[in-house]
Amino acid sequence: MGKISDRIRYVGVNDLKTTAFEGMWPLPFGVSYNSYLVMDEKTALIDTAELGFAAEYMENIRRELDGRKIDYLVINHMEPDHSSLIAMVRESYPDVRIVANAKTVPILKGYQGVTDNIHVVKDGDSISLGNSTLTFYMTPMVHWPETMVTYFAEEQTLFSGDAFGSFGALEGGITDSDAGLYGSSDAAGSVFGAFRDEMRRYYSNIVGKYGQTVQAALKKLSGMSIARICSTHGPVWEKSVSDVVAYYDRLSRYEGEKGVCIVYSSMYGNTAEAAKALAAELESRGVPYAIHNLCTEHVSYAYRDAFKYDTLAVGAPTYNNDIFPPAYNFMYGISARLVKNRRFFAFGSFTWAGASVKLLNEMAGRCGFDLISEGISFPQAYSREKCDMAAVADRIKAALA
Ligand code: FEO
Repeated sequence: MGKISDRIRYVGVNDLKTTAFEGMWPLPFGVSYNSYLVMDEKTALIDTAELGFAAEYMENIRRELDGRKIDYLVINHMEPDHSSLIAMVRESYPDVRIVANAKTVPILKGYQGVTDNIHVVKDGDSISLGNSTLTFYMTPMVHWPETMVTYFAEEQTLFSGDAFGSFGALEGGITDSDAGLYGSSDAAGSVFGAFRDEMRRYYSNIVGKYGQTVQAALKKLSGMSIARICSTHGPVWEKSVSDVVAYYDRLSRYEGEKGVCIVYSSMYGNTAEAAKALAAELESRGVPYAIHNLCTEHVSYAYRDAFKYDTLAVGAPTYNNDIFPPAYNFMYGISARLVKNRRFFAFGSFTWAGASVKLLNEMAGRCGFDLISEGISFPQAYSREKCDMAAVADRIKAALA
């Protein structure tokens, strides 16, 4: 049931109960917490799962072990979605030797109270399970400082931690030959295609700040022969390894596709009308775009598409002589994620004094974005005369050409 190969078994779980990952990111398709057993003369468990799934997870391990014990527990990453069952595994398998790096040790003590029988590894160190060799490579800040990956050379398999992971529980299978995106109605085509939006939302929301360290990790891994990626979230990648690696490379370089992510917030609908007018003008010119209302949608979708397209258009009315807070918070998140290489356009209404467009442009300037224009700040109600979005769409189209 959990067989990936003769030596690799899947023992992870699907989470279709949690509504917000890390307490804030919506999970419309759930999420999986992946964990793997490598079985040779000795056995190694790679990461664990989230605390709420203890019974199912421990049963998955017992079933695959079929009476054997666990010799090693490799900790690639200490975020509690993968580490909160370490103490329970230790309780059930008291002889298990924990394999971790020096940065993991204090975090392991702090979260799980585990301090003994730990084999501390450095970059490039290996352990042998018999005819299987696991080698550890440090990949700090992908996504925490203690993060490492585990390479199983004989099977050209990378246990990558969060890297190459995705939101979305697994339906029907584990690998990209047979997995589906749970609850998705448009999962036709390749599994990678079905997961791509949720992978980008996961990347942009969770790992997006760490583009530089993801790039360093990709460089470190580039010399390895990788036929299979076993991430901690989402499908096991076999058919799609090159696509997935190329996509992560693109995301971590902040390289957007040609197109516009329109993100707006509105109190009484005037900035919203301006946003929709821009969308209509882009549509008529065949310019790809996405549009998100920060007052009705979770900001995670706006981040997702801000990482997709190379142009960002942000609308906010002036509020308390400042940027309307939903748009301010969005721009704060863009800045915190160190997003770069974007064109930028700001727009928004005001009643007695305009401030939001000027301040949005200043935030964009601090991100190093190129302004399409000085923006459109318009008084009171929206009208076509006040907001020449046709001219803006012409400029954007010319810039994308
Ligand atoms: Fe899935 Fe950074 O933990």
